[in-house]
Amino acid sequence: MFFSARLLAAKTNVAILGAAGGIGQPLSLLTKLNPAISNLALYDLVNTPGVAADLSHINTPAKVKGYKGPDELDAALKGADVVIIPAGVPRKPGMSRDDLFNTNAGIVKSLASAAARVCPDAHLLVIANPVNSTVPIVAEVFKKAGVYNPKRLFGVTTLDVVRASTFVAEAQTQATGKAIDPSDVKVTVIGGHSGVTILPILSQTGLSFSQEEVDALTHRIQFGGDEVVKAKDGAGSATLSMAQAGARFTDSLIRALNGEKNVVEPCFVESPVAAEQGIKFFASNVTLGKEGVDTIHPIGKLNAFEETLFEKVIPELKKNIQKGVEFANQA
Ligand code: NAI
Repeated sequence: MFFSARLLAAKTNVAILGAAGGIGQPLSLLTKLNPAISNLALYDLVNTPGVAADLSHINTPAKVKGYKGPDELDAALKGADVVIIPAGVPRKPGMSRDDLFNTNAGIVKSLASAAARVCPDAHLLVIANPVNSTVPIVAEVFKKAGVYNPKRLFGVTTLDVVRASTFVAEAQTQATGKAIDPSDVKVTVIGGHSGVTILPILSQTGLSFSQEEVDALTHRIQFGGDEVVKAKDGAGSATLSMAQAGARFTDSLIRALNGEKNVVEPCFVESPVAAEQGIKFFASNVTLGKEGVDTIHPIGKLNAFEETLFEKVIPELKKNIQKGVEFANQA
């Protein structure tokens, strides 16, 4: 499924900020299992010495070290090639991702400032929500520091395509009576990473659906995160599936950085795809390469239903991006 990087020499340094959290711990575990990683720095405000000691006993090449509290942030970031940011509060039932803005925007801004200073050439993978706003925040912080490289900044939207292939495979299995392996179902998901900004392009899957199925699947893919928030009943949002998605994206990026060709992952990046609509950041499939973002794929053909969904993506995404830019530029 991933870790096809196993044939590579372990030479990539990865730092995870928020490593002791619900996502951080399983993501740290999966990242420790990636044989292409040489050093794994685990930073959080709490508990990282324990998490690091525990993971350090696993017999894979990555050397694990824990860093706790702001005084140790610079040391955690030193030499990082890839910085993954799951730090921040998760949703509770009834909350939208935008409701997290007030807390998480400040956390992401301060972590990005440190990264821009200590490891300005690192690839930044933003998991902390609202991704539609936190990615522009990181971009602005890096711009202010004079070190912004749009090829190296990614909002991690992998979980949307992971969910999409699971839900579509389930629905097709039910409709046809034939078992379908979810990992064989590829669904392109574009736009952003919250509610109506998540646009699955079911018409491009090559599968046939009734309009009723399209309505139900589209809604489930857009609001799949809510199922987990509700089931956890106040104890947080997706952590384990997000860890898998984050580890998959990290592995794909490392393989591409090491020269593997045709590595394609969806992600939320600075993009020309919706520039005509005034949107600076957009999620679509991206071919990753030695510098990070290599080729941003166009959306392709949308059917009439998807066109109407696309019209709803634009104003919401514009608002989310603007909010991040304004926050980052406040004194
Ligand atoms: P959590 O509360 O379990 O863990 C967050 C961790 O961040 C905690 O260990 C906390 O101590 C740490 N933290 C807080 N402020 C920090 C700072 N200034 N520096 C370093 N660490 C800090 O939350 P969870 O469930 O791990 O979620 C983290 C974030 O990921 C949330 O914003 C959530 O909305 C987001 N998320 C994103 C998804 C995506 O698809 N991109 C999917 C699911 C969640």
